[in-house]
Amino acid sequence: MTNYWKLHAPSVDGRAASNQMKSDNEEMIAAAASLLRHGQTVAFPTETVYGLGADATNSAAVNLIFTAKGRPSDNPLIVHIAEPSQLEGLVSTAAVTPMVQRLMDTFWPGPLTIVLPAVAERLSPLVTAGLSTVGIRIPDHPVALQLLRAAKCPVAAPSANSSGKPSPTLASHVREDLDGRIGGLLDGGQTGVGLESTVIECKNGDIYILRPGGVTGEQLEEALPQARIHAPQHEMISQADRPRSPGIKYTHYAPQGRMQLIEGNSHEQIALWIQQDLNAAKARGETTGILTFDEYEPLYQADLVISCGKLAYPQSIAHGLYAALRRFDEASISYILAETCPEEGIGHAIMNRLRKAAGNQLVRI
Ligand code: TXA
Ligand code: MG
Repeated sequence: MTNYWKLHAPSVDGRAASNQMKSDNEEMIAAAASLLRHGQTVAFPTETVYGLGADATNSAAVNLIFTAKGRPSDNPLIVHIAEPSQLEGLVSTAAVTPMVQRLMDTFWPGPLTIVLPAVAERLSPLVTAGLSTVGIRIPDHPVALQLLRAAKCPVAAPSANSSGKPSPTLASHVREDLDGRIGGLLDGGQTGVGLESTVIECKNGDIYILRPGGVTGEQLEEALPQARIHAPQHEMISQADRPRSPGIKYTHYAPQGRMQLIEGNSHEQIALWIQQDLNAAKARGETTGILTFDEYEPLYQADLVISCGKLAYPQSIAHGLYAALRRFDEASISYILAETCPEEGIGHAIMNRLRKAAGNQLVRI
C-alpha cells in the first residue's frame, strides 16, 4: 500500500496557511522522511516535476526505485540535497572549481543538475549506474527542501513516472503510474516549471548541456560569460527517410498513439496541412489528436484538440506539456499531430521533449 499525504497549500484564498496547517504539513513530511530513512521510496513535489526518492546511500532502497519505475539499470539517478554542505563526502572537493561554485551560487536551489566526480564509497553504486560521476541538485520547493532536511540523507530521485511515460506534474500522475508500487506520496499540488532540471557537466572551463531543462542556455551564459556552452546534439528524422517504427532508444515521454511534429515557415500552411492530414487519418479509422497552443486551438477540429499553453508565454507551455501528453492516452488517441515552438530560452527544453515524445518524427512543410 502507498501512504498518501495531501499537504495543505501554502496559501488559501490569498491568506497564509494557519499555524495548524503548517504543523500538519510538518507532521506529514516527517512521516515521509521516516519512510525514506527506513529504506522505502517516497514521491515528492519539486519545482520541476515529482521525484521518486530513496536514500541514495542504501542500495536496497535505490533498487526499489528501479523496480517501481521499470527503469533500465544503466540510467543513473540524480541525487538531491538540501544544503551545499552535504556535497562533502559525496563528490570530490577538487571538482568544485570556481566555475562550478559560481553555478551553484547562481542556480541553487533551482532546476540545475551538476554532474561531478563521485566519491565512490558513500553512494549506492546503483545511483551512478557504474559511472564515476554523479548528478546533484538542490531543488527549489519548500516541501522537497523540508523532506530532504528531515530525511538527513542524500536522496536519489528520478522523475516519479513509469519509465517511458511523461514526467508527473501532479500527484494524480504519480498515482496513475506508481500507486501500490511505492512507499509514499506527498501531494503538494502542481509543480512549477513542468519540465525537468537542466543537466550539465563542466570540463576544462566549458559547459556541456547533457539535457536541456528549467535553466536555459541563455541563463548559463549570463552567469558565466567566459565559458563556452555546448548545446546537446539532436538528429531529426525527416519525412523522407524516417523509419516507420521509431527506435525504442528515441522514444520517451511518448503517448501510445503515433505522434509527429509539424514544422514550416507559414502557420497558415501548417494549419491547413495538419487539418487535411487529420481528416485523412480520421477517414481511415484513426482517432485523431492535435497538440497545439492557445493562439491556434480554435483553428482545429479533431477527436481531441489540446493546447499545452500560450506560445506568447513559453513558460506556460513547459508547465502544461506533460499533462497534455498524458491526455492523449486517456482518450485512446491513435494519431497525433503536434505543432512546434521556437527554440529560444525554455523553448530548447520544450522542443527536446516534444522530439522525444514524437520518436523524432518530423514533417517539414
Ligand atoms: O528535475 C529533475 O531533474 C527531476 C526531479 C525529480 O529532480 N529528476 C529527473 O530525474 O528528471 P531523471 O532520472 O528522470 O532524469 C535524470 C537525467 C537522466 O537523463 C540521466 O541519464 C541523467 O540525468 N544523469 C543522471 N546522472 C548522470 C551522470 N552522472 N552523468 C550523466 N547524466 C546523468
Ligand atoms: Mg525521467
